[in-house]
Amino acid sequence: MEPSLLPVEILEAQQDFPMALAACKDLDGLLRLKGAYIGREGSHAARLMELLKAAPKEQKRELGAAINALKNQWEETIKARQVELENAKKRAAALGNTWDPDLPAPMPAQGSLHPLNRLIDRLVDVFRPLGYHVEEGPEAETEAHNFDGLNIPVDHPARGSADTFYFEKHPGLLLRTHTSPVQVRTLLRLAPHIKEKGGIRFLAPGRVYRKDEIDPTHSPMFHQVEGMLVGHGVGMHHLKGTLAYAMKALFGPGADIRFRPSYFPFVEPGCEVDVRCPLCGGSGCRVCKQSGWVELLGAGLVHPNVLEYAGIDPGEWSGFAFGMGVERIAMMVSQTPDLRFFFENDQRFLKTMGGLD
Ligand code: DAH
Repeated sequence: MEPSLLPVEILEAQQDFPMALAACKDLDGLLRLKGAYIGREGSHAARLMELLKAAPKEQKRELGAAINALKNQWEETIKARQVELENAKKRAAALGNTWDPDLPAPMPAQGSLHPLNRLIDRLVDVFRPLGYHVEEGPEAETEAHNFDGLNIPVDHPARGSADTFYFEKHPGLLLRTHTSPVQVRTLLRLAPHIKEKGGIRFLAPGRVYRKDEIDPTHSPMFHQVEGMLVGHGVGMHHLKGTLAYAMKALFGPGADIRFRPSYFPFVEPGCEVDVRCPLCGGSGCRVCKQSGWVELLGAGLVHPNVLEYAGIDPGEWSGFAFGMGVERIAMMVSQTPDLRFFFENDQRFLKTMGGLD
């Protein structure tokens, strides 16, 4: 008989059986299961026999065969499991009384911070002694903060709805595509106090969103940490010194960085920063694709238009900024080949993320 022609009662009982069997951890449980499936009265098998009785004559042969096959299978499986459990019981008895009052009591499972949050905390700890505090901004952000204030032109491709999640019912509102809008918010808020403070410096960690298909290295939601410093006469050498210090603190004294020219509308000049591969030390490995270097972040000197938008005089003030992808660093440090591990919350993965401690 075609499986789809079996009455739904049979299909359901058949489907549930393996789970019910797996849930039996001892002989008592197994006996209960035996009663429920193949017992004389009230069991699934008994119910199936009633179904058979009530079936039209021409279906009885096929239905009977299907029911018998199922009953036999249940019987055999239960028997085999029974033997297994009895043997286990005998083995335990042979070992004597296994109750040891001196054994420590089992401790309740303890929760802990997610590996990505641990890494973010570490980054914050590296920058805090340099005078950086933490700033936050909303994930539902305005186009003005996410793009305009960052000197991103109106026709820039990143603004398109192919890359950015816009709120259909709220024109001008989007899910921020990077943590850089926190630059704009913080500059706007602190601009009136910049003189008395002598400058501004902060980190801004958080979630960002892009219309990327999910694959081993992309996700529509990921994390970035933004950093910014504004002061008098800030140059590339300050950026370089700060990042070199931070990477040594993060990856160890052997860490080295290099700059490659790049372009981001909110910095001039702009660059990308690589770190000498923390895994092979630069000799070449799978993580750095034999190049000895891994891309770490985007950075540069704050564009005068960004300062001006926030009401800060670029003639007097200058600064640097950088932005890094947290998952990228986490994957590299922990040698995790697939970004999705960080979002699936499989306890076995989360517990073995020692590489990030
Ligand atoms: N916001 C950039 C991105 O998401 C990263 C970035 C580049 C941040 C350069 C910066 C910067 O602050 O100066 O790709």
